[in-house]
Amino acid sequence: MLRVAIIGNGNISYAHVRGYLDLGDRCKITHLVDIVPSKSEAQKQMFDLDCQVHDDHRAILDADDVDLVSVCTPPYVHAEIAINFLKAGKHVICEKPMAPSLAECDAMIAAASESGKILSPVAQNRFLEPIMNLKRTLDSGLIGKLVHAQIDSHWWRGHPYYDLWWRGTWQTEGGGCTLNHAVHHIDMLGWMMGRPDAVSAMLANTNHDNSEVEDLSVAVMRYPGGALAQVTSSVVHHGEHQQVIFQGEHARVSAPWSIDASVTAPNGFPIPNEELKNKLQTQYDGFEKLKFFGHTGQIENVVSAIENGIENGSRPLVTPADGRLTIELITAIYKAGTEHREIRLPLTADDPFYTVDGIMKSVPHFYEKTASVQAQEGEITIGGKYW
Ligand SMILES: NC(=O)c1ccc[n+]([C@@H]2O[C@H](COP(=O)([O-])OP(=O)(O)OC[C@H]3O[C@@H](n4cnc5c(N)ncnc54)[C@H](O)[C@@H]3O)[C@@H](O)[C@H]2O)c1
Repeated sequence: MLRVAIIGNGNISYAHVRGYLDLGDRCKITHLVDIVPSKSEAQKQMFDLDCQVHDDHRAILDADDVDLVSVCTPPYVHAEIAINFLKAGKHVICEKPMAPSLAECDAMIAAASESGKILSPVAQNRFLEPIMNLKRTLDSGLIGKLVHAQIDSHWWRGHPYYDLWWRGTWQTEGGGCTLNHAVHHIDMLGWMMGRPDAVSAMLANTNHDNSEVEDLSVAVMRYPGGALAQVTSSVVHHGEHQQVIFQGEHARVSAPWSIDASVTAPNGFPIPNEELKNKLQTQYDGFEKLKFFGHTGQIENVVSAIENGIENGSRPLVTPADGRLTIELITAIYKAGTEHREIRLPLTADDPFYTVDGIMKSVPHFYEKTASVQAQEGEITIGGKYW
């Protein structure tokens, strides 16, 4: 049985608690930690957990009854907390975004490789069938060479969203919707298409005059071989219609799942390719079903990797390199949108955008944050409607 500590007991930590509880006696939550102890107490009570409560993660770095840690704090402390636990010999699942800068990601990766422990940045949407099966479809090669991706990371958040104390500043949230919302879809893009070699982008704050950060960005990426991707990151899209669409040379597939395929008429106009559409659908219907979904899916994947033994080469699906690639793409969007020019990848350690300080000195500061509340009432939603 793996003993688990959860650091930061706000909104998203509830998905982690449920994930561990879903795994029955494979895990036991032994510690909850939050700088606001009433948050931990409320969580402990709600789930009737038999665990200790602390107000500083350093109190449990040497605890014998911790094997795995979920970091569920605001982004600006992800690196510090993850590195402390990795150095103390604990496995770490770190909420998205892995960290607001590549310098922090590299320090986290170094700590993981020195300790030999698992570091898995959260990308829970991979553990949804429409996304997992889209990746399996691309890997099958049936749609041929990829030529275009359309990533619509459309969310909607009202003004009060940015009143929470850590949101709406470059210092503590680390960025706007590109870093904190589109991170999910940019992970999918990186997972499915790898690293582009050039990025162009524009940044805007169209509707949140109580926040320093962007509420809309539109980026274009170019891949080795010539394919393009367009990425819209937004918290101003009513209805939050999110989709990822891939065009291959033979067919188009997407999440939410749909297929189109054409062959050419003698004059170059399209004729539907029913045979390929049927083949893609049959393949899709035959993919193995997932047993666990979303956060529970990723937590189960990490727990299985630990149970199977990292010494035997067992690794979680979402790796630190995946988390870093996502941050590299996001950083490139910020740099391109700030400098109004095409940015070549990879971004290197001598780039001003490599560090949080460098990013903060450069990026547009759209508005002043006007309010700062400790907590907000109400449920949160986490996207992921792909069917
Ligand atoms: N995967 C997803 O779909 C998803 C959804 C929402 C949020 N998130 C991510 O989860 C993280 C937390 O977001 P949230 O919405 O739960 O925020 P939240 O403010 O509701 O919760 C964060 C908690 O961390 C605590 N905290 C802050 N600094 C701390 C520290 N140094 N040590 C211990 N506790 C500390 C706060 O007191 C708070 O209770 C963010 O990185 C966010 O981007 C992920």
